[in-house]
Order: sequence, then C-alpha cells, then structure tokens
Amino acid sequence: MTTTCVVHSYRGGTGKSTTTSNLSVLLAALGKRVATIDMDITSPGLHVIYNVSSQMMNFTLNDYIYNRCSFQDIVLDITNHLKLPRGAVYFLGSSMKPEEIVKVIREGYSDKFFRHVAEKLSQEYNVDYVIFDTHPGLNEDTLLAVMSSDVSLLLMRMDKQDVTGTYITGQIMKKFGRISYVVLNMVPPNLAESPDLPSEVSKIIDASVIGILPFYEEILSHRSRGVFCLHHPQHPYSSQLLKIAKRLIELTATESQTIDLTGAK
Ligand SMILES: Nc1ncnc2c1ncn2[C@@H]1O[C@H](COP(=O)(O)OP(=O)(O)O)[C@@H](O)[C@H]1O
Ligand SMILES: [Mg+2]
Repeated sequence: MTTTCVVHSYRGGTGKSTTTSNLSVLLAALGKRVATIDMDITSPGLHVIYNVSSQMMNFTLNDYIYNRCSFQDIVLDITNHLKLPRGAVYFLGSSMKPEEIVKVIREGYSDKFFRHVAEKLSQEYNVDYVIFDTHPGLNEDTLLAVMSSDVSLLLMRMDKQDVTGTYITGQIMKKFGRISYVVLNMVPPNLAESPDLPSEVSKIIDASVIGILPFYEEILSHRSRGVFCLHHPQHPYSSQLLKIAKRLIELTATESQTIDLTGAK
C-alpha cells in the first residue's frame, strides 16, 4: 500500500521543502520507504537540502517528461548518501537548467504525470510514501498534484494572508474530495505554547491542524545546508516533526487507498 501526499502552501517560503526533506528522513527512521519528488519545477530546491549535486543527478523529471531517459534513470536512492540506518529515501529531482525550466513552463506536462510517477514508485520501488513538494499557490500543477494524491499537507504561517489563503486552498481540496491536514510552521514561540492553538486555528480554516512547528533561529542559520534533523536529532524541531510523522502514519493507515492506475505519462 502506497500513500501519496502533496506538501503544499498557498504562499511561498512557508517551509515546504524543509518539511518535505526532514519528514522523509523521519519517516525512514520509522522504517518507512519514502520517495520525494521536486515538483516545484519552476523553482526547484529540494536537491540543495539533500546535498545532491548536479553530477549525481544524471537525469531529471524534465528528461523523463520529454522521453529522454527511462524511469529508473531519474530515481536516485539517497539512503546511503544521507547515511540513514533504516528505511529508504528516493529522490526525483527537477532540472536547474534555465532552458529546461522555460520549456516545461511553455509546454506543460500531461495531467496523468503525477499518478504515473506514483504508480511507478509504488510498483517498482515498493515505497510506503510518495511525497510531492510543490510550487505554492493555486495553479494548475497544484490541482493536478492534489487530485493525484491521497492527502495534502498544507503548511501555513500564523500570518493573516496565509490563514485566508489556506482556508481557500482547503475548500478547493474539499471540492475535489481530498483531505487536507494543516501544519503551522514558523509559529512565534509565545503563540506556539498555547495548547488551544491547534483547535482555534482548525475552526478558522475549516481543516484539521495536525502539528505545530515553532520558528527556530537555528533552522534559519542552518541555511538549507543539509537535512536539519540529521544534523540536530535532539533539537525540538526534530522531535516536533517526528510527532507529525507519526500522526501522518496513523492518519494515512486508515485513509490511504491502493493506487489503481493505468494511465500513461
Ligand atoms: N520552523 C522554521 N523556523 C525557522 N526557519 C524555518 C522554519 N521552517 C523553514 N524555515 C526556513 O524558511 C526558509 C524557507 O523554507 P523552504 O522550505 O525553502 O520554503 P518553501 O519550500 O515553502 O519555499 C528556509 O530558509 C528555511 O530554512
Ligand atoms: Mg520549496
């Protein structure tokens, strides 16, 4: 059984790539096999956090979209690269070449692409979780990612613009029959201490808040140089996110569906 999850936010810079990368290694630490996909094709960044160089990425999602390589060519097993003792993490990166980014913006890709990738990862790599790291906002790519996923993890800050946008995003996801769970990120430390915060915010945005991650100076200072919780396993950020990983496992154990897909890419 494979669960597909899209990590998304209405606005940019909410911590999607940071959360995706840290969540992947925490799920692996819990014995899970995880694949993360950088679907922020117009501004990829996940490879930076994973310390995956362009030499390591012989082929990218862009090459696969245009039939220049096989599926196996774009799947990078980074379990050993990250020195993970348990589970597995696979990474599928996007091209950083300007001409490739322009091409995919101009030409787009098939609406079956997300489901095709998830199916391949499920069947050929036996992964438990497929996590799509997306571009922010309510664009076409996002809606495709949402429609192709079992659950959406929406990240938001305690900012009025994020609150309004997250509410709208959740409502749209509901219209597609998709469940969204919300993680509050970069929460000011004084607010994060309030035990009523998750229930209060859940009511306002009409979606379930499953975790709170305070703003930590150390994460900002880390400057995306590696996966934070591998460098700082004892840091409160790592333990808070571990709770979210466990919660996600609980929630998806009951709600995930078997992927039944037949489409071509
Ligand atoms: N809880 C946090 N506390 C402090 N800084 C954070 C936190 N989460 C993420 N960041 C920082 O915020 C910036 C944006 O994060 P990123 O994951 O790149 O966002 P996105 O992928 O949504 O654009 C990065 O510099 C990251 O280190
Ligand atoms: Mg990002």
